[in-house]
Amino acid sequence: MRKDFEPKPWFFPLPVLIVATYDENGNADAMNAAWGGLYESDQVELCLSAGHKTTKNILSQKAFTISFATGKYVEACDYVGLESGNNVPNKLEKSGFTTQKSDAVNAPVIQELPMCLECTLIRQTEEGNIIGRIEKISVDESYIGENGIDVEKMEFISFDPIHNVYRVVKQAVGKAFADGAKLK
Ligand SMILES: Cc1cc2nc3c(=O)[nH]c(=O)nc-3n(C[C@H](O)[C@H](O)[C@H](O)COP(=O)(O)O)c2cc1C
Repeated sequence: MRKDFEPKPWFFPLPVLIVATYDENGNADAMNAAWGGLYESDQVELCLSAGHKTTKNILSQKAFTISFATGKYVEACDYVGLESGNNVPNKLEKSGFTTQKSDAVNAPVIQELPMCLECTLIRQTEEGNIIGRIEKISVDESYIGENGIDVEKMEFISFDPIHNVYRVVKQAVGKAFADGAKLK
């Protein structure tokens, strides 16, 4: 037996993307976005409301960064999804995040979050979605070990839209493009 539900934005895993931008005065802002993903192998798509400070900043500066949220900074990551830079100019300062300007694009890189996609705006779709090109990926060296990038240590989080909670994405349970081969 299966139970049926009305259509809702129940989708797994939803990412927790922290999108950071500058405004025309160089003031940094950031927001939380769950509705986003890959568009091409070097391109991303974000579904952002037009009124957000972030959306206006992306359109004016043609650049943004996406950092993946982590369990360690869950409060700050949630906070930037609750308050708008339109009303709170020192929002980023209040979050406790610190930033440095990307050396690839005109957007801030959040120092506390370990992995960041540094992107330029390609275009806005008819529906208003943002399509960006990944110009560079930067990773905090303290998360790079002998075996390369230590994703388990980063403790990225996913947004669970059924229970409105964040969940840690952690241990590997299988090898992609490999485990299924047994069934061929
Ligand atoms: C878990 C979570 C996910 C969110 N996902 C999105 C999203 O995908 N798109 C969007 O436009 N807003 C999303 N928001 C809302 C924005 O983050 C929020 O309105 C924020 O205050 C906008 O900030 P800004 O005006 O400084 O850019 C999300 C908020 C939370 C808490």
